[in-house]
Amino acid sequence: MAKRKTSYICQQCGYISPAFLGRCPECGEWNTMVETIEETGPRSTGARKPIGAVRAASLASVGSADLDRIPVPIEEMNRVLGGGLVRGSLVLLGGDPGIGKSTLVLQIAGALATGMRSVLYISGEESAQQIKLRADRLGVKGEHLLVLSETNLQLALDAAEAASPGLLIIDSIQTVYIDDMTSAAGSVSQVRECTSRLMQWAKPRNIPVLIVGHVTKEGAIAGPRVLEHMVDAVLYLEGERHHHYRILRGVKNRFGSTDEVGVFEMADVGLQEVRNPSEAFLEERNGNAAGTTVAVTMEGTRPILVEVQALSTTTAFGLPRRSGNGLDSNRLQLLVAVLQKRVGLPLQGQDIYANVVGGLRIAEPAADLPVALAIASSFRDRPVDQQTVAIGEIGLSGEIRSVNHLERRLIEARRLGFKRAIVPAALGRRSASFGEGIELIRVSNLGEALETAMQDRK
Ligand code: TYD
Ligand code: MG
Repeated sequence: MAKRKTSYICQQCGYISPAFLGRCPECGEWNTMVETIEETGPRSTGARKPIGAVRAASLASVGSADLDRIPVPIEEMNRVLGGGLVRGSLVLLGGDPGIGKSTLVLQIAGALATGMRSVLYISGEESAQQIKLRADRLGVKGEHLLVLSETNLQLALDAAEAASPGLLIIDSIQTVYIDDMTSAAGSVSQVRECTSRLMQWAKPRNIPVLIVGHVTKEGAIAGPRVLEHMVDAVLYLEGERHHHYRILRGVKNRFGSTDEVGVFEMADVGLQEVRNPSEAFLEERNGNAAGTTVAVTMEGTRPILVEVQALSTTTAFGLPRRSGNGLDSNRLQLLVAVLQKRVGLPLQGQDIYANVVGGLRIAEPAADLPVALAIASSFRDRPVDQQTVAIGEIGLSGEIRSVNHLERRLIEARRLGFKRAIVPAALGRRSASFGEGIELIRVSNLGEALETAMQDRK
């Protein structure tokens, strides 16, 4: 009979200690000892199988059966999952506290709980009454939606066993714990052990499990990061807390692509799908002002048009400020430096603020050109033509470099009625068919781009 005991194992070198130590005596690393349950005693019952009993199969002979998926009626979610929740899989939904994870999972629960299948929502954060209040607000009807407020994972799994739901939701993994371990709920060891228990429960029963996990700003030692390799899919819900747009991004998916994103808007009735993100992000644009341009950014395989704004003002004293919202601040510094050195804009005495409207974060270099144009436009106080989009990466010598998915970006810009696009001169291969219905202005360096962008047009 296997016996259980817990011990502390260094995650760095594997040293085992019966008690917690701040520093591993073997390798000298700090904070690497993690509580782990050890099963002692015989590991397997049967004797070793005779040679030949276990055989590798040729890949061609392996059947490619379709995955058994449960489609989620929320299309933006479904797409990110790769077409639905795969039975028996573990999906982790991560995100900052307060971003809307509980709201989203409750909406999913409501949408999936039908006569044919019940959904069990286990919350370690809210009481059943609080869940009810939220469900009412979201318009989620509760007939086949079972709720339980519980933090002891074993009891929660017992309840799940009795209910035998079509989908199990744990909100959140940081609040549940198992008795066998002494460390607190939310610690790395608890989070990991709980997830592994959930996996052992879900796989044989073929029930999908949706796990909510908080990420802290620091990247989170006890956050869902440690779980990423254990679960089948990892989705992150991102956004600025004070903006209403939320992006659901797949960062790992064993059953689909991670290129997909879903766009939502937080309304007073929960998260609403945004089917047409470009239109939504450009809604409040005032194209006649100086210091604004339109960028076409790729979110996975989806082109999204967003407004980029910049403001350049004289520095009152001391060091000039460069501050970016929704942009990488190092990239912003670099663009300012290129504008100074390669185009000769005297920005050394200017505070520069740049902002991506709507709370989207742009991490890709194709937004370099629109950002640089917005800065120059604000500095010179001359608007960029409002029917023009700009796409291009800027190199350190001021050259405009080609970007990926240019064609898709242009199609999206044209769809939204833009007339012109400033694009890299080297369009890349397959460029012959580009740009039907939209005028392409090909530029090879930043100076040229500024010139054409700030020309007066009728
Ligand atoms: P929540 O789902 O509780 O966040 P998480 O589980 O990620 O911590 O969302 C909390 C925020 O969402 C809260 O600030 C209020 C807001 N909210 C709405 O704006 N509309 C709604 O319908 C709901 C339910 C929440
Ligand atoms: Mg929550």
